[in-house]
Amino acid sequence: MKRVLFFSCILTMGVTGLVHAAEGDVTAGKAKSAVCSACHGATGISAAPNFPHLAGQGQRYLLKQLIDVKSGARSIPEMTGFVASLSEQDMADIAAYYASQKPPVGAAKADKVALGERIYRAGHKEKGIPACNACHSPTAKGNELAGFPMLSGQFADYTAKQLRDFREGERTNDGDTKIMRTIAEKLSNKEVDAVSSYVQGLR
Ligand code: HEC
Ligand code: HEC
Repeated sequence: MKRVLFFSCILTMGVTGLVHAAEGDVTAGKAKSAVCSACHGATGISAAPNFPHLAGQGQRYLLKQLIDVKSGARSIPEMTGFVASLSEQDMADIAAYYASQKPPVGAAKADKVALGERIYRAGHKEKGIPACNACHSPTAKGNELAGFPMLSGQFADYTAKQLRDFREGERTNDGDTKIMRTIAEKLSNKEVDAVSSYVQGLR
């Protein structure tokens, strides 16, 4: 009996330990996110388009970005000093906190909708651009398990900057398959602006 109890204890500790590290703790994350709020807002709704909204973003995606910013795989000079001292558990907690917050709601510019919608839902066959919704989902909520980020409600200026950064090779943390670099390379500025405005209005 004692033996069974002992083993089940070890098992429970092991499993919760793992789950804890992977999932993060929302309450702990809220406290740890205080230093981030000056730029990203207290609940991850930011006041200026150069600072992306984080509220409602996928937890896996957020955690990966924080790990990448800390390692230098994604260069964000404004953030370097703030992530340097964070442990992986801190980052998991903060990611869990922002992921649990209410996502931003935005609007598209009327004159960008037609082209933006076409690119987002159908891509561009001749240019070899795949439909964005295949990965980022029809409502642009993303895909949590796959780590495909939510795009809906995000500032169009921020989204457009990311697409240009991928295109110019300024952002390179999309993996060895270069998923986003390959796609962004084929987008014109007009298409970048249209699709970025379109997804800001999706919900
Ligand atoms: C001084 C301002 C500033 C502070 C403080 C700051 N950030 Fe940022 N953060 C930025 C900027 C600027 C970007 C976007 C850079 C770009 O355009 O690629 C960014 C981007 C991000 C992203 C990527 C979002 C995405 O959609 O890919 C995450 C995640 C993030 N910050 C989390 C944090 C966390 C967590 C903290 C606190 C530990 C923090 N930031 C503190 C300025 C800041
Ligand atoms: C095959 C899957 C796939 C397709 C198709 C795809 N994406 Fe992505 N996208 C990704 C992945 C994966 C990432 C995250 C890369 C990383 O981890 O940094 C991403 C990241 C992004 C980001 C950065 C988000 C942020 O918060 O910084 C933007 C913007 C984006 N994609 C826009 C688009 C647009 C627009 C299209 C269509 C023209 C598109 N994507 C098509 C997989 C895809």
